[in-house]
Amino acid sequence: MSSMHFDQFAGDYKQVLDKTVAISGEDSAYFAEYKARYLARMLSRDFSGKVLDFGCGIGLLSGFLKQHLPQSRIDGFDVSRESLDHVDSALVEQGLFTSNADLLAGDYDLIVLANVMHHIVVAQRQMVIEDIAGHLAPHGKLAIFEHNPANPVTRRVVDRCPFDKDVTLLAPSETSQYLRKARLRLVRNDYIVFMPRLLSCLRPLERCLAWLPLGAQYALIGEKHV
Ligand SMILES: C[S@@+](CC[C@H](N)C(=O)[O-])C[C@H]1O[C@@H](n2cnc3c(N)ncnc32)[C@H](O)[C@@H]1O
Repeated sequence: MSSMHFDQFAGDYKQVLDKTVAISGEDSAYFAEYKARYLARMLSRDFSGKVLDFGCGIGLLSGFLKQHLPQSRIDGFDVSRESLDHVDSALVEQGLFTSNADLLAGDYDLIVLANVMHHIVVAQRQMVIEDIAGHLAPHGKLAIFEHNPANPVTRRVVDRCPFDKDVTLLAPSETSQYLRKARLRLVRNDYIVFMPRLLSCLRPLERCLAWLPLGAQYALIGEKHV
């Protein structure tokens, strides 16, 4: 996929996504904050390390990462320069938001890829993960969030999403293989996001369902050996 692909959506990325996920009764912010909360639970709120939001787009997740991990430094990387122009100025003041991979540090404590992998052509996925793993500090973690292709509602949402045309979704088994081949130890493998807004009273149960392959998305975390 061309690096320019997301440039055309930069101005109205959030609105397009809000419309696409409306079937859940939630908006794009709900899904971004869900991921930030998940990571804050894994790391603890006092985490004060360096984070890279790889494929940060307009910085929707980055903002929630800063909110839920307030002592961390958040950097962002994206191939879409126009998306980066929309990143909030407060984020840009505290970290580096760039499309130049040569500027990225080599000692990130956490690197997050949220719904980025399915935009990378299959033949390049392993190489991209290995490159990213090379930017982790010892014991650093790589967190990958992806759409769950086994969930029919997710597949329907992806089919209708204007920027998901021609993407190839990845099952957790494919994603975990990339992590293993990049010599990262798999430390979490969780299904997430089960309940639409209509069933929000049942959301406290979601953490107990992490094993159930029906979540709309999944999260895998790999850790770098020393
Ligand atoms: C669906 S958006 C997700 C944006 C953000 N992670 C979020 O959760 O809101 C996918 C993003 O991945 C970026 N992307 C695609 N291929 C990439 C690559 N090889 N390297 C870095 N970013 C990439 C796109 O430009 C786009 O901003």
